[in-house]
Amino acid sequence: MTSEPINLFDFEVLAKDLMEHNEYDYVAGGATDEITLRRTRSAYDAIALRPRVLSGFRQADLSTTVLGRRIEAPFMIAPSGGHTRAHPEGELATARAAAKFGTVMGLSANSGYPLEEVAKAADGPRWYQLYFYRDRELTVEMVKRAEDAGYDAICMTLDATWPSKRERNIRNKYQRRARPNYKTDAPDGAATTAKFDSGQSSRALVDPGASWDELAWLRTLTDLPVVFKGIMTAEDAQLCAATGVDGLIVSNHGGRNVDTTLATIEVLPEVAAAVEGKVEVFLDGGIRRGTDVVKAIALGAKAVLFGRPLFWGLAYAGEEGVAQVLDILRDEVESTMMLAGRPTVDAIDSSLVAKMPALP
Ligand code: FNR
Repeated sequence: MTSEPINLFDFEVLAKDLMEHNEYDYVAGGATDEITLRRTRSAYDAIALRPRVLSGFRQADLSTTVLGRRIEAPFMIAPSGGHTRAHPEGELATARAAAKFGTVMGLSANSGYPLEEVAKAADGPRWYQLYFYRDRELTVEMVKRAEDAGYDAICMTLDATWPSKRERNIRNKYQRRARPNYKTDAPDGAATTAKFDSGQSSRALVDPGASWDELAWLRTLTDLPVVFKGIMTAEDAQLCAATGVDGLIVSNHGGRNVDTTLATIEVLPEVAAAVEGKVEVFLDGGIRRGTDVVKAIALGAKAVLFGRPLFWGLAYAGEEGVAQVLDILRDEVESTMMLAGRPTVDAIDSSLVAKMPALP
């Protein structure tokens, strides 16, 4: 492709040429047969929009609030490990682009820069994502560091308690990158030969035995709002509401962990119904078009997050590339809202969507 990228898919085409093959595969890939990965994206196309006309407004307002903080458009940066695999400035560049745009930067514990440095790079809203660790002191330390560095929320990822089988990485003998938030972490030669993707050190860190009691303990550590990431059923959504978590992210980890799940957009309605308005519901997975964002809001999400496109933007042009990704998505959301007769995010309701019938 020679021309400028005009949509989020274009960035991936460009990034594929610009990134090292193993790194591209690491970002693009999913677990085993990548059935969840493909379905999570294509399920948006099975939803039709029902636009209204003559709505009497000249401008749409895309802003909304997440956990009480205003963001300029209803999408955020999903926490994801090691942005440095796409650009040397990594999360520093992503954080600057997100802050200038006016949305949340989700920072992963597996980031390429320490959380304190990312916090200093830009003064936008930011969430810190971590795990329930086997070593509880590590969880305590991470939460405290995030609080001290001025993060606005703690995001606990619950769907990565065991290494998943990512066959692209196995074939590529992918070597995991260093994770400076873990003070004792070093590039892990073991990962190159491990049968499963994350290598021994993630397995050693994350506690697969964590339970729903953990939230009460987390609340004793911090007053920050807590978001649970990786909810895919009404049952777990009800438990989120019952235990009093502030937000949840409907997520299948971008199809990277358990394969053959439903798409996130498919389970969103049952999750949204189950929490009865008690928990802010967010969604990620396969968000690439403005229409995807609008469909997720219509089906009960307060806002959405995206992961892979930020890597493609970084690979293309660093901070400027991420800024372009954000701007393009914003313009598509605006266009959809204007043409669908929805002046505000709150006006996007379930009457805007229908099941796309199969063509005869
Ligand atoms: C991720 N994701 C992720 N999630 C998380 O909670 N902690 C993490 O460290 C990571 N790391 C990570 C690395 C890479 C390369 C990718 C692509 C994704 C998952 C991420 O937060 C999000 O759930 C998905 O990326 C959403 O799907 P899309 O937008 O990539 O289709």
